[in-house]
Order: sequence, then C-alpha cells, then structure tokens
Amino acid sequence: MISRIFEIMNDVKHILVTGGAGYIGSHTVVELYENGYIPVIVDDFRNSHLSVINGLEKITGQKIIYRKLDVCDYKAFEKVFIEFSFVGAIHFAAYKAVGESVQSPLKYYKNNLLALINCLELAEKYHVENIVFSSSCTVYGEPTGVKTVTEESKIQPASSPYGNSKQIGEEIIDDLIKSGSSLKILKLRYFNPVGAHETGLIGELPIGKPTNLLPFVTQTAIGKLDELTVFGNDYNTPDGTCIRDYIHVCDLALAHVKSIEWLENQPNSLSDSINIGTGKGTSVLEIIHTFEKVSESSLNWKFGDRRDGDIEEIYANVDKSWKLLKWKPTKTVKDAIFDAWNWELKLNND
Ligand code: UD1
Repeated sequence: MISRIFEIMNDVKHILVTGGAGYIGSHTVVELYENGYIPVIVDDFRNSHLSVINGLEKITGQKIIYRKLDVCDYKAFEKVFIEFSFVGAIHFAAYKAVGESVQSPLKYYKNNLLALINCLELAEKYHVENIVFSSSCTVYGEPTGVKTVTEESKIQPASSPYGNSKQIGEEIIDDLIKSGSSLKILKLRYFNPVGAHETGLIGELPIGKPTNLLPFVTQTAIGKLDELTVFGNDYNTPDGTCIRDYIHVCDLALAHVKSIEWLENQPNSLSDSINIGTGKGTSVLEIIHTFEKVSESSLNWKFGDRRDGDIEEIYANVDKSWKLLKWKPTKTVKDAIFDAWNWELKLNND
C-alpha cells in the first residue's frame, strides 16, 4: 500500500513486462527506462537466463525490479498487480518455437492462451488499461499476390499451433473489447526481430539449437554449430532464397514504448493491430553475405531442401506504424548483424 501511495505522489509510471527477461522483452525494458518508465519484469526464467538481469542493470544503471513467477499461476501473478499500480502492461510471455508447437500443441495452447487470459483478467480487475500484446506476422501466412502485407491483409489459417495461439490471442482480445471492456489494446505484429543491444550486454539467447536464421549464422561462425543449411534455393525470388523483413530488436523495443505512449493518450477502449517491420525485404543469401562482410570471415553453409511451412517472401507495409506511433526504425540489417555478432563474440569470451 505504501509503495502505491509513493507511486502516485511521485508520478512513477510502472509498466508490467511479462516475459521481460526474454529476447524482445529485455530490450524493451531498456527502452522503457530510457523513456521515463519503470518496468517491472515478471518472468519464471524457464526460457531465459537470470544473467539477463545483470546485463540490464549494467546498461541502465538501475536496480531492475523483477518477480520470478509463472503468469499462468493466477494467484501468484495477482500479487504483482496488488504490489504495483501499473499504467500499462506489455505481454510477451509465451512459447515461440514453431516446430515444438507442432509436436506439443497442448503445451502451446495451454501456456500461451492461459497466460494471455490471466493478464487480461487481472488488467481489468486492477484497471491497467494500456496493454500491448506480442503478435506476429505469422498471422498473414503466405501472402497471395503482393508480398507487402497491410494490417487489412487476409488472415490465413495458421500453419502451426504457435501461429494459431497468436491468432486466437488476437481474437480473444477483439472479443473482450467487443464485450464492453474498458481496456485499450495494441496487437503488435512483429516481422523478424534480429540483432542485440549495442553494448553486447543483452541479446538473443536461444535455449538449445536455434531455429531462427541469425542466431544459427552467428553460432555457426563461432564454431558452436558445424554448418548452416539454407532452406531452399528454388524460390521465385531474385536469388532463389526466401525473403523476410528483418527488424533490429532495439527498434522493435522502442515501438513498444511508442505504443504505450500512444495508448495513454487514447480516451476510449480499443483493439487495433499494427505491423512492426521495416518495409524492406532481405534474402537469406543477402544475410549470409552481409554477415561475412561484417565479421570478415567466411561462413560454412550449404543449400538444403525447403523447410516445411516456410513462406517465400513477406514484408510489412509500415504506413500505419509510422502514422499512428510516429515511430520509424533507424537501424539497418547490417547494424543488426554487427550487433548480433558482437553479442556472440562477447558470449564466447565470457
Ligand atoms: C519463424 C517462424 C515464425 C516466427 C518467427 C519468429 C517458421 C515457419 N516461422 O519465421 O512463425 O514468428 O520465426 O522470429 O518457423 N533459414 C535457413 N536456415 C536456417 C534457419 C532459417 O535457411 O537454419 C531461413 C528460413 O528458411 C527463412 C529465413 O531463414 O527463409 C528466416 O527464418 P527464421 O529466422 O526461422 O524466421 P521465419 O521463418 O520468418
């Protein structure tokens, strides 16, 4: 109670960050601090490392507030809402491995949906009105015709339980708002987050063998993995490999802060979706060649078969994010590759 009175009197803006020790969550914590908010991390560290907290403390020079708990445990999660008076919540906590979700669909639905429902229920109960939900461009599936998707592009049947958990999550949010809830929710549809913080103190820490491209590249280059396989070279793209919209994780992190700022200024309840990307496409071979230039090394890679469910080419139409959030990415794919490599080198030295 005393801490809540202190918050109100001192205009402290606490933001709940579920999954705040994870890859995107941790970079968002840094941006929140830099923009005058005090993030409160809730994470059970099942897919992240406690060392992230040390990295965050070194970057921000602040004592990081975190509570180790599972957001699927309603009672434990509620204690955080009682302890702090949040002006907003950013909900990252979710499983995200596509392949694993196909093997264990119930694990994915149970965790990802229960976590979201608990977060929304508690946000309503404790009047935390400004909510950002981590969604994904995976909701668009393979675009038909134009490869640039807008928020109005067709949502297609998900190709994995992971993707479906994001689609259902979006639907749960829409239904809640239709029911008359007072919450204001932005669903951020991320394209491909890459890179690390420029200090090399936080970055992507995949548990086990990475499935995403850039950590696979850096781990191969450092010698943790033997060889990178490029999945398919017969796609209908200029160099035959798939094209994605890679966005620097720090740019993506700032988009969350801009979303909270925007939501704070909205008078009425709402649910809206926003693409968070750069609007530019990069092929797998372009990533490899840029990496080789940046790292001044040659990568051990070969062409292999296509990966099931892979999308040929997709990138974001970013008009809405630029217009609504007044936010534009400032970093290039080359910057992201440089930072990811710096992070991998630091991890190796430590
Ligand atoms: C994947 C997920 C997507 C999720 C996103 C999160 C799939 C089908 N999709 O997207 O749902 O939201 O990660 O970041 O898994 N590649 C290789 N060799 C590798 C790894 C990747 O060639 O070892 C290629 C892929 O074929 C793809 C590109 O690199 O063309 C990017 O792959 P990845 O990083 O896995 O991202 P997405 O497939 O876009």
